[in-house]
Amino acid sequence: MGHSTTTLNVVVLCPLLLIIFFLSPSTTSATTFPSIQAKNLFSDLNLFPRQDANIVHHHDSIVSANVNNTKKNIVERNLRFPNLVDPDGISVEDLGHRAGYYSIQHSHAAKMFYFFFKSRNNEKDPVVIWLTGGPGCSSELAVFYENGPFKIADNMSLVWNDYGWDKVSNLLYVDQPTGTGFSYSSDSRDVRHDEAGVSNDLYDFLQAFFAEHPEYVTNDFFITGESYAGHYIPAFAARVHRGNKAKEGIHINLKGFAIGNGLTNPGVQYKAYPDYALSMGIITQAESDHINKLMVPPCELAVKLCGSGGKIACTASYFVCDIIFNSILSRAADINYYDIRKKCEGSLCYDFSNMEKFLNQKSVREALGVGDIDFVSCSSTVYQAMLVDWMKNLEVGIPALLEDGINLLIYAGEYDFICNWLGNSRWVHAMEWSGQKEFVASSEVPFIVDDSEAGLLKNYGPLSFLKVHDAGHLVPMDQPKASLEMLKRWTQGTLSESGANAEILVAEM
Ligand SMILES: *[C@@H]1O[C@H](CO)[C@@H](O)[C@H](O)[C@H]1NC(C)=O
Ligand SMILES: *[C@@H]1O[C@H](CO)[C@@H](O)[C@H](O)[C@H]1NC(C)=O
Repeated sequence: MGHSTTTLNVVVLCPLLLIIFFLSPSTTSATTFPSIQAKNLFSDLNLFPRQDANIVHHHDSIVSANVNNTKKNIVERNLRFPNLVDPDGISVEDLGHRAGYYSIQHSHAAKMFYFFFKSRNNEKDPVVIWLTGGPGCSSELAVFYENGPFKIADNMSLVWNDYGWDKVSNLLYVDQPTGTGFSYSSDSRDVRHDEAGVSNDLYDFLQAFFAEHPEYVTNDFFITGESYAGHYIPAFAARVHRGNKAKEGIHINLKGFAIGNGLTNPGVQYKAYPDYALSMGIITQAESDHINKLMVPPCELAVKLCGSGGKIACTASYFVCDIIFNSILSRAADINYYDIRKKCEGSLCYDFSNMEKFLNQKSVREALGVGDIDFVSCSSTVYQAMLVDWMKNLEVGIPALLEDGINLLIYAGEYDFICNWLGNSRWVHAMEWSGQKEFVASSEVPFIVDDSEAGLLKNYGPLSFLKVHDAGHLVPMDQPKASLEMLKRWTQGTLSESGANAEILVAEM
């Protein structure tokens, strides 16, 4: 505690001094602290990747991977996981599952790994891409623990997920930014540091994907994801929209983007930490007052400097604002910051280790065509490389998309602390666009699934906000059925109707 008080005084008395302190490249704390932070974060999930990132310097791994030295920028294969428990015995072709590598166009040597799962319902269903956050965590986390077609059983076989999002969509997952999951490069210059790099790679991937699969070009297209993807998604949606407007390549039929428990406007969201923690009884009024008085103002200033400044101001603001988060956690003992109803046992908040075990099996790796590329569940190198991006406000590009009729759904499990619903609700309400007044004035309606309230929905025009009951950070894991219903209604344009109907129903009763 004594240590943090000292830090606190420095912060309060002289935020600029602290920023200058982090400015110096010789300060080891600035470089090692995020690395430790990242590794702690991953070990909370029981993930221990053998590599920090897939920046591969030995040539052998690369030649044995799925990518031959062909001119084609996509190499894809039909996929059937060897350990799939499948009573119906569907053929590989009918399954419509693919794994592939895309050679990233604007890179030195980067290859992006992806999964494509054809809809179990209808090929004409929308194409939905999912991005996991971190930054630096593989989207396979979502494939196997959230909304993918399968779950990993304890005996390492795969069983169908009744609520996989592939029940209503043709579903894409990519490992990104470069270095994450099975994505790799032999050139460390391909590691991304900002949303321009991330969104260009994703846009280039879509171009290649739709060139490979022209049969899906006219389907509706939606971008979805979670957590740090609250940064990726608005940038990616804006990049697609810009490409469409400029007729850059294949027109991508972008209809909407959805962010689950995301980090989008850090200035607003960090400020909401003490308020959320107080309202949930994690901290006392006195503690909240203390944090609001001493830690929030320096963070606000630092975020402002990041907005107008460059890399150093942005990296500094991450450290300044992180004090708010850590100071609440230090008062809350072993709280699971992804779900405040749960405890972290030992250092474990969740146990996703089966994913590493599963994907490191020889038979699975052969089916995927990944050669000797290690599976990097979460990359601390990628995480650190994105620190300069962390405190950037990604809300700024959203109003232009809304004005052009592109739909946005912000949803949040109500028990998540780290990207809590309150902070998200605040920036969504404060966002200036032509429908802001109407959105703010619109009333909350119940989101009904199976005759019971699964959440509370606010909607006006293209903008929807859904607070999901009984869920933490990983909504599709905690509320699989409700999350599938959410995706289905949102992509079909009936999300707000269901709320309105439900309201009428309640009124009639
Ligand atoms: C790579 O090239 C080899 C030899 O030309 C071929 O046998 C193999 O099928 C190719 N692999 C892929 C994934 O295209
Ligand atoms: C593994 O577990 C799954 C799900 O519990 C089960 O269906 C399957 O039969 C098991 N496989 C073996 C080989 O025990």
